[in-house]
Amino acid sequence: MSVLFSPLSIKSVTIKNRIAISPMCQYSAIDGFPNDWHLVHLGSRAVGGAGLIITEACAVVPEGRITSHDIGIWKDEHIENHKRLTQFIEGQGSVPAIQLAHAGRKASCDTPWMGGLYLDMDKGGWKILGPSELPFKKDAPTPYSLSKDEINTVIEAFKLAAARSLLAGYKIIEIHAAHGYLIHQFLSPLSNHRTDEYGGSFENRTRILIQIVKAINQVWPKELPIFVRISATDWTTGGWDLEASIQLVNILKEIGVDLIDTSTAGNIVDATIPVAPGYQVPFAMEIKKQTGILTGAVGLITEGAQAETILNNKEADLILIGRSALRNPYFPMQAAKELNENLKWPLQYERAKI
Ligand SMILES: Cc1cc2nc3c(=O)[nH]c(=O)nc-3n(C[C@H](O)[C@H](O)[C@H](O)COP(=O)(O)O)c2cc1C
Repeated sequence: MSVLFSPLSIKSVTIKNRIAISPMCQYSAIDGFPNDWHLVHLGSRAVGGAGLIITEACAVVPEGRITSHDIGIWKDEHIENHKRLTQFIEGQGSVPAIQLAHAGRKASCDTPWMGGLYLDMDKGGWKILGPSELPFKKDAPTPYSLSKDEINTVIEAFKLAAARSLLAGYKIIEIHAAHGYLIHQFLSPLSNHRTDEYGGSFENRTRILIQIVKAINQVWPKELPIFVRISATDWTTGGWDLEASIQLVNILKEIGVDLIDTSTAGNIVDATIPVAPGYQVPFAMEIKKQTGILTGAVGLITEGAQAETILNNKEADLILIGRSALRNPYFPMQAAKELNENLKWPLQYERAKI
């Protein structure tokens, strides 16, 4: 049997194969409520055979949305709509996971197909926030710097969102600490110039993430997994890097994080990124090797054989598929064929199996 189609058990959860649908914003919600689009989008990928389906970045507070069309889980009313997603995904034998997120200084934007620019207040935008008064890029609005009380409110919002995620039927939480969003803004010395206990030293910059994990632990069952997505490097001198990531992961492992979904970049607008097939895999491999934690590899992994090699080489334990799964929701079926695996298809589709 290929490793790609072998199960992965983490705590009490067994994922039937090593293919996860990477979180991908759909910008299609109103007031944070997932709707038919999200059901069909995530549902088709569960029908397509992926072992793990991770929602797009789901905002823990309304001001933490990238756009006003992001999904959210900041109020109890959202739970029912999320339940429709988790029930359908589980019905297909896949595991439903939720990515909890706060966009920080990258919030208050228009949807990509409307240009993706920051929105002015009079056009539906809102006040953005971050660790420090440092705009993401030239011409971007300056975020206000969170007070310590406001940081506590953010931590509490992650905790409440985790409690709602459980009620909604999610089996895994992924904390979004990557791509230049709020938590990553705290981690990186390039976006965090604070002088209090949330800025400066490594210990201080990582404090918010550690406190978020500990807060989630208070409401999230011990037998259910927690993932953290990080950007293992800012690809910029003086920024967050692999060494800091390894140091951080050693702490996260101690406090109950099970898997590091290893991405890169997103915090520095003019970083030079050597984009190529599997270009982020070495980070997943190094983190796995140095800390012993499970890792997920993501980024330009587009073929079954490529995914199988990564797993066989013990460079990662899980393969996240993004754009290839947008092009083809049946990516796992295609990869199974490539690897001569006899994947179980939905009964309804079996007459098409050759
Ligand atoms: C349309 C789209 C939306 C995305 N939204 C998210 C998101 O909500 N959260 C996240 O962590 N990454 C997001 N990403 C990044 C993907 O999860 C993935 O890391 C990236 O696309 C690289 O993988 P790929 O080469 O397989 O597409 C998004 C990517 C795309 C294409």
